[in-house]
Amino acid sequence: MSEIPVARTIAELRAHVRAWHQAGQTVALVPTMGALHRGHLALVEEGLRRADQVAASIFVNPKQFAPTEDFDAYPRREADDLAKLKSAGAALAFVPGGGEMYAAGFATAIAVGGPATQGLEDRFRPHFFGGVATVVAKLLIQSQCDIALFGEKDYQQLLVVKQMVRDLDLPCRIIGCPTVREADGLALSSRNAYLTAEERRIAPMLHQQLQAVAGALRAGKAPGEAIEAAISVLITAGFSVDYLELRDAETLAPEPDPGRGSRLLVAARLGKTRLIDNIAVY
Ligand code: PAJ
Repeated sequence: MSEIPVARTIAELRAHVRAWHQAGQTVALVPTMGALHRGHLALVEEGLRRADQVAASIFVNPKQFAPTEDFDAYPRREADDLAKLKSAGAALAFVPGGGEMYAAGFATAIAVGGPATQGLEDRFRPHFFGGVATVVAKLLIQSQCDIALFGEKDYQQLLVVKQMVRDLDLPCRIIGCPTVREADGLALSSRNAYLTAEERRIAPMLHQQLQAVAGALRAGKAPGEAIEAAISVLITAGFSVDYLELRDAETLAPEPDPGRGSRLLVAARLGKTRLIDNIAVY
């Protein structure tokens, strides 16, 4: 099997996209940080249903990690990732080096508000959405893609990207895709590789408790009570819970607007691993 073409510079990426556009084809981009799993590949597959060509980027973005976080330890498996992208049907991998993405003297950042400042991930990772918005804006502009696909697994991130694209008039449509899970409910994540065997056994409780709260809410229980019960089950099982909250599905405001639907979002640490998940309630 021939290998997937790899663009390591913005100029190479643009040459591929220009050729596709000149041939009248539409282009989808799937931004990733690599260590690819079925969740990422589902984005590639959805991209192929919606556009003629799919490019995926692999870049572990230093700007979205705090100095205390796992930038150095983050799994890097380029050869394996390229083979997976090829077999999922991607036409191109964009794998820029750190200096290509952030040239010496780089001094611009995108500040995001709205869903980025609702006190969820931003409360625990204050640098995170600025770093994500900056790199995603660059990737969308570098690639000139027609659509870009993001997972609901990172639900706040998906809303932040949609807001930024709207506010900056970026000529790209953002598509959200459902979370891909293991058979036991655990959301696929590159960080699941950090879990010990014992932690892996406990980890699906996060999704189970989201479902328990959603079920209780649909049965008419008060949110505060249902959420407290789930948090205490998680703590007893060994999780440190950063948050488990019911939010408006579009704005992430604490008081869901019944007309817009609501979302339960959770972040919790199990040993050294921080896991996030979310589900729709209504
Ligand atoms: P990464 O964690 O590699 O995820 C890349 C994309 O895959 C994101 O849109 C994420 O939501 C999606 N994804 C991850 N796990 C998923 C799952 N189980 N089901 C469905 N989709 C899933 O998110 C990032 O990278 C970065 O912040 C990035 C957007 C690339 C900017 O650096």
